Amino acid sequence: MKIASKYRAFILLALSLSLIVACKHDPEIVVAPDPDPTLCDTITVTYELTVKPILEANCFSCHNAGNPSGGIDLTDFSKLTSLAADGKLMGSIKHLNGYSPMPQGSNRLSDCDIAKIDKWIRINDFKPDDPDPEPVGCHPDTVYFQNEILPLLISSCGVIGCHDPGTAQDGIVLTDYASVISTADVRPGNPEGSDLYEVLIEDDPDKRMPPLPNAPLSQDKIAKIRKWIEQGALNNSCEEINCDTTQVSFATHIMPVVQLHCLGCHSGNNPGAGIMLTNYNEIASAAGNGSLFAAITWQNGFSPMPKNGNQLSSCNITQFKKWIENGTPDN
Ligand code: HEC
Ligand code: HEC
Repeated sequence: MKIASKYRAFILLALSLSLIVACKHDPEIVVAPDPDPTLCDTITVTYELTVKPILEANCFSCHNAGNPSGGIDLTDFSKLTSLAADGKLMGSIKHLNGYSPMPQGSNRLSDCDIAKIDKWIRINDFKPDDPDPEPVGCHPDTVYFQNEILPLLISSCGVIGCHDPGTAQDGIVLTDYASVISTADVRPGNPEGSDLYEVLIEDDPDKRMPPLPNAPLSQDKIAKIRKWIEQGALNNSCEEINCDTTQVSFATHIMPVVQLHCLGCHSGNNPGAGIMLTNYNEIASAAGNGSLFAAITWQNGFSPMPKNGNQLSSCNITQFKKWIENGTPDN
């Protein structure tokens, strides 16, 4: 495995450094502690320290100025950010439908590397013509696709066996922006003319989505989708700039995140991994045994959650961490 060999190289380097230290008796050289290979640190992500090394190891050989495979030079930062902005970068490394799976001819990147690149794209909110990307704060009147609509579609419709890339019932895939727009007939500004919205408000229970025996989406969620289409059905996102991590409460911070990002797959007759996340007791029990936090931080050995989706925001992850550290109170 690539990661394992990286750490082996690191340990060898650390060992040889410590030999040098031992010979020279030089107290100035400090050997970094061995990183814990089970942790995926996506808290601090930068281009130079995080993203570039991943691309150097896996992509630059085929995508440099002298050899731009597919016309793509990934060492060109503006090219990279434009691929990030139009979804191609994530589509290709996540092996989503409709993109060429990258790195070509090799295994998919580790979930941790994918999480880091994903985080980098989202915190910088790359847009094709934005030379100096800044995180965008969330405006209360705007509905953001990446923050609110995509998680809802993934957990209520992109469920395995329905509109996930592997099944694609009726040719419809609802797990990434490009597929949502192209396969669910979304007409920006016109919810009534958009299949995605029409099927949610359908009176005929045989045609309504999600189909029986699933419950219809809540009025609140349907209204969000309507508003997002009215606002132009953009591939937009925002970052919670005022992240409240001091007074974390189950009702205010934890439950709404689970309802938006997890509930659709962790309820009903066939919940993912047999884990129900519909109420306080169920969520506290998944949090108490460590699997919930390991899954949302995409730790090695756990299935990364939300399945098929982007990682939760670092604000949400910090709130889960605080709530768990506080002993998962029902507050
Ligand atoms: C062995 C060579 C090779 C490696 C390694 C490689 N690529 Fe590619 N890549 C190609 C070729 C060839 C194409 C154009 C043909 C195609 O789309 O399959 C391409 C196309 C792409 C595209 C356009 C995909 C699309 O659907 O339009 C993206 C984005 C991309 N690569 C990103 C990456 C990233 C990111 C990595 C590293 C994680 C990577 N590539 C590693 C050879 C490679
Ligand atoms: C699209 C459906 C889907 C969504 C959305 C989803 N899950 Fe899952 N979850 C699954 C499935 C299916 C499994 C079983 C493992 C697998 O197939 O990857 C699972 C497994 C898990 C596990 C066990 C992981 C392990 O490796 O032991 C936990 C914990 C979990 N999910 C929590 C969550 C949380 C928390 C969220 C929301 C942040 C979430 N899931 C969102 C489908 C989903």
